[in-house]
Amino acid sequence: MVAIELQSGHAMPLLGLGTWNLRGAACERVVQMALQVGYRHIDTAYMYENQIEVGRGLRSSGVERSEVFVTTKIWRDALQYDQILQQFAACLEMLAMDYVDLLLVHWPNETVPLGESLRAFDEIAASGRARSVGVSNFTPQLIDEACALSTAPIVNNQVELHVGNIDELLVEHCRQKAVSVTAYRPLAKGDAANDALLMEIGERHAKSAAQVALRWLVQQEIVAIPKASSAQHLRANMDIFDWALDADEMQQLRRL
Ligand SMILES: NC(=O)c1ccc[n+]([C@@H]2O[C@H](COP(=O)([O-])OP(=O)(O)OC[C@H]3O[C@@H](n4cnc5c(N)ncnc54)[C@H](OP(=O)(O)O)[C@@H]3O)[C@@H](O)[C@H]2O)c1
Repeated sequence: MVAIELQSGHAMPLLGLGTWNLRGAACERVVQMALQVGYRHIDTAYMYENQIEVGRGLRSSGVERSEVFVTTKIWRDALQYDQILQQFAACLEMLAMDYVDLLLVHWPNETVPLGESLRAFDEIAASGRARSVGVSNFTPQLIDEACALSTAPIVNNQVELHVGNIDELLVEHCRQKAVSVTAYRPLAKGDAANDALLMEIGERHAKSAAQVALRWLVQQEIVAIPKASSAQHLRANMDIFDWALDADEMQQLRRL
């Protein structure tokens, strides 16, 4: 799996499986299937209520834990120091894992000082129980604050980003700070699959509109975490690495 190098020195696969709204046995089955067809990156969160199944899916896949990049997130109502330590311990217990690869602040919460939250994140990072730390849904100003307050490097900002919805200033700002960007909702919740321009470009490459949407992201070194629940979608979404969009197509999609 093609990966980028994070500021922490760890590698993060450019494609991962999103698991929001996947629950229970279906979640376990999809995680297992994804790892068996070659995914090496799974995105979950405390508030997705599926970490037990994510952990089970990984173990039943037969793929080694060390080969998989696992992200989880602390929900915005638990960003005080003690609450973070508590919620993170619960995450590891539910996942039945000793560490996660990336721990994110799920959403900013202006009622809790960011420095207090990041003190807990620093402690978790120093203990090795999160290999890297980062944030989600952070603005450029909050990114600056987080980078200034955190001892451990802030390696990633996970934000909503897809064709037709890209905040170029934010992406550029993150790049300047060496904060990688993960696109959540990379398929616009599935709407990308029916977009006329994506379909037209896809026809030229014998690819689907969804594949073009994902290729457009990873070609800019933006990590994409599409959620998919069938083997067909899982496989299709992986088939984005041995072909490329040309400069005109990239521009056309940027303007959409
Ligand atoms: N940090 C945050 O605040 C935040 C917020 C929202 C989401 N996220 C993360 O981002 C992940 C992805 O976002 P999302 O789940 O909202 O939306 P998404 O990944 O943009 O879209 C998922 C939808 O696309 C469909 N799909 C997948 N592959 C397809 C293909 N090849 N062709 C056609 N349709 C396809 C899926 O259908 P099937 O299920 O039928 O395959 C599903 O309905 C989440 O699962 C979560 O991990 C993070």
